[in-house]
Amino acid sequence: MSLFKIKSVDEIMAESGEKGHKLARVLGAFDVTMIGIGAIIGAGIFAMVGEAAVGASSGYPAGPALIVSFILTAIACGFTALCYAELAALVPISGSAYTYAYATMGEIVAWIIGWDLIIEYAIGNVAVAISWSGYFNDLLRSAFGVSIPLWLRLDYRTFVQKGFDLASVPHLGPVPVIFDLPAVLIVLALTALLVVGVRKSSRFNDFLVVLKLAVLALFVGVGFYYFKASNWVPFAPGGWKGIQVGAATIFFAYIGFDAVSTVAEETRDPKRDMPIGIIGSLIICTLVYILVTVALTGMMPFMELRDKIAEPLVAGLDYNHAARWIIVLVSLGSVIAHTAVLLVFQMGQPRIFFSMSRDGLLPKYFARVHSKFKTPYVTTVWTGVFVAVLAALCNIDEMANLCNIGTLFAFVLVCLGVVILRVKDPDRPRPFRAPGGYATPALGILFCLYLMLGLDRITWWRFFIWLAVGLVIYFMYGYKNSRLRTGDLLLQKAEN
Ligand code: ALA
Repeated sequence: MSLFKIKSVDEIMAESGEKGHKLARVLGAFDVTMIGIGAIIGAGIFAMVGEAAVGASSGYPAGPALIVSFILTAIACGFTALCYAELAALVPISGSAYTYAYATMGEIVAWIIGWDLIIEYAIGNVAVAISWSGYFNDLLRSAFGVSIPLWLRLDYRTFVQKGFDLASVPHLGPVPVIFDLPAVLIVLALTALLVVGVRKSSRFNDFLVVLKLAVLALFVGVGFYYFKASNWVPFAPGGWKGIQVGAATIFFAYIGFDAVSTVAEETRDPKRDMPIGIIGSLIICTLVYILVTVALTGMMPFMELRDKIAEPLVAGLDYNHAARWIIVLVSLGSVIAHTAVLLVFQMGQPRIFFSMSRDGLLPKYFARVHSKFKTPYVTTVWTGVFVAVLAALCNIDEMANLCNIGTLFAFVLVCLGVVILRVKDPDRPRPFRAPGGYATPALGILFCLYLMLGLDRITWWRFFIWLAVGLVIYFMYGYKNSRLRTGDLLLQKAEN
């Protein structure tokens, strides 16, 4: 039987209505846009702009031209967002890119995307958790004058790279004990909340978003106050390569608009609300990011970020001796922004595993729902443990780059899905049609591939290895147990 067996859009829509599994349709376009902004603004703008501007590990600084990187990435995401909007309006159910792939390119591609989304959601969260820890330490320091020992808030590699003395840390036999305790604790705390079924209400999300925007507005105000045109000379110290590498790095800041598609089943009018939410949140975040970058690169020579590369906004404030309360507020806003992002992705990952398990591509064990809390607790706990262990031990830039390559690849496949569905099913009415004919998905693919090329070789290798492991698992398990293939799916539909 074909590896490219397709689950038709009609089948998917019919399944979503099975057995009263319908979710309440309570969200409007405004809520959905706010959910998008809630998922987008986090570690990218608060932390990764430092590495992108300075290029400490890549060797290619973007410098003040990071503004151009942000625009370049926004264009890539814009084309992709239009494609996401077309598919989310057409197949308005919660499985995101995994479901679209099942409907357009068939099972094996769906599996690859599902496997790849682990990189976006779980590995992305590893990076956000590490960054959370950085700002949390800053908050402790600026608000209370408390410092956690270095060996309890860094990973081994960063510890060594920064030249700290290994003799100063406790040892277990010959092994130095160095791990990021705050990152572990935040992940485990959120995992526990998600197991007992705490769901962020849409009002609470609105509150968090307003807070994030207010803190960034404060930062922009301070940055503009200290702005000096001389800080923009040279504007592009790493040339075009610096801009491209910077764009690939800060791509992380945009990830999340696609997560809007996971609430499709909860919107009143998905055909209208999905496109508005996906594209609206992307436009608003782009404007915010450009303002923040103008402020940051204008308030200090970018190279001064080098020593505090993981908390660049605080570095900018410190450099200008901004008032302590401003630093405390920005650190606090950042910790809250990070927490909101962690929650969205920590909630999204189990839903994807859950869909894959329901389709038979992963063992049924993963689709278990808690008898009391009614949450997918098995996948939630596995995700929590996986993210916590990696967050304890890994380097943030490596994790962020891996997340970027995986997400860009998923975006390429989503754009390809739009092309395929238009060729195969041209007459199906589209509630929302990405403008520009085939040019939009084609440009989406090209821009995303271009950004992927900005990532280093080791990131590509890690990505290939991840995909290869995924394919082995598919042929050992999913290929034999897929419900679509075994006919189980059709059987169950007939029974209903
Ligand atoms: N865009 C999200 C962030 O920057 C993932 O944290």
